[in-house]
Amino acid sequence: MTSVNRAAGDTAREPEIFVNPAQGFGKDPVKVRRTDHYEQEYVEGFVDKWDELIDWDRRAETEGRFFIDVLKQRGAKRVLDVAAGTGFHSVRLMEEGFDVVSADGSPEMLAKAFENGRRRGHILRTVQADWRWLNRDVHGRFDAVICLGNSFTHLFNDHDRRKSLAEFYAALRHDGVLVLDHRNYDALLDGRTKAGRRYYYCGEDVAAEPEYIDEGLARFRYSFPDKSVFHLNMFPLRKDYTRSIMQQVGFQEIETFGDFHETHREQEPDFFIHVAEKAYHSPENDPSKEKTEA
Ligand SMILES: C[S@@+](CC[C@H](N)C(=O)[O-])C[C@H]1O[C@@H](n2cnc3c(N)ncnc32)[C@H](O)[C@@H]1O
Repeated sequence: MTSVNRAAGDTAREPEIFVNPAQGFGKDPVKVRRTDHYEQEYVEGFVDKWDELIDWDRRAETEGRFFIDVLKQRGAKRVLDVAAGTGFHSVRLMEEGFDVVSADGSPEMLAKAFENGRRRGHILRTVQADWRWLNRDVHGRFDAVICLGNSFTHLFNDHDRRKSLAEFYAALRHDGVLVLDHRNYDALLDGRTKAGRRYYYCGEDVAAEPEYIDEGLARFRYSFPDKSVFHLNMFPLRKDYTRSIMQQVGFQEIETFGDFHETHREQEPDFFIHVAEKAYHSPENDPSKEKTEA
């Protein structure tokens, strides 16, 4: 089933779809459902605008110390930011004393991240790496892998998702932790998102709206004050599916937060954040687990 602009709560008016030719969506953008396409989507013009889209101060304020506390509580020191983007989390974590390696599949994004780091007095250690082959390009083991800013939803098939999670798992020390977030696509798909909702990390003058949604595609439109428009095609990850594939690749305990809070039952959160622990505790040493298996 397909629906256009359902999430904006206005099913009668079908928006005119403007396609920026530089992003390579072609004549029928909703047919573009490929993992590799992210490389074309983050074109130079869009990357330059990304920091306009993401107001760093506002984002820092909204997130507060959530990620820092999650990492510090688990004793993490070495962190691999696998979706560095323009460097927001890498810089923030460096400023908190973490030892960070910043990876991303997009060289444009990494160049921007490096530049942003320099401007704030940091030299980012950047590595260009696609998640599906992460350990080919990134060496060493980390206490934490972070994949934030709705990045994991760029993967369009189950196989790529499992392979990427397996690569994240392998990059972690035996007791490491993966922190991965994504939009609340369940709410979008099930029509529970309120019209005109603003997304937490957007700058004041930038509109980011879901333009099209079905079970295989969430297409977002980003409009800037200079009238330029860019799009991202993403896969609408459901929360329970994401948790289940994390478990299946070997993560032992997964805690899911809604919008940086521990409970998310009363309100519909904008984002889900999964904190997945690798540490294995044998059921022989954990009587509660033995009981459920018996
Ligand atoms: C939505 S941006 C988020 C960037 C940053 N984490 C933030 O929150 O601002 C997604 C990032 O994931 C990267 N990405 C998408 N698919 C990837 C893949 N298969 N391998 C590596 N990086 C990927 C993109 O290049 C982009 O920088």
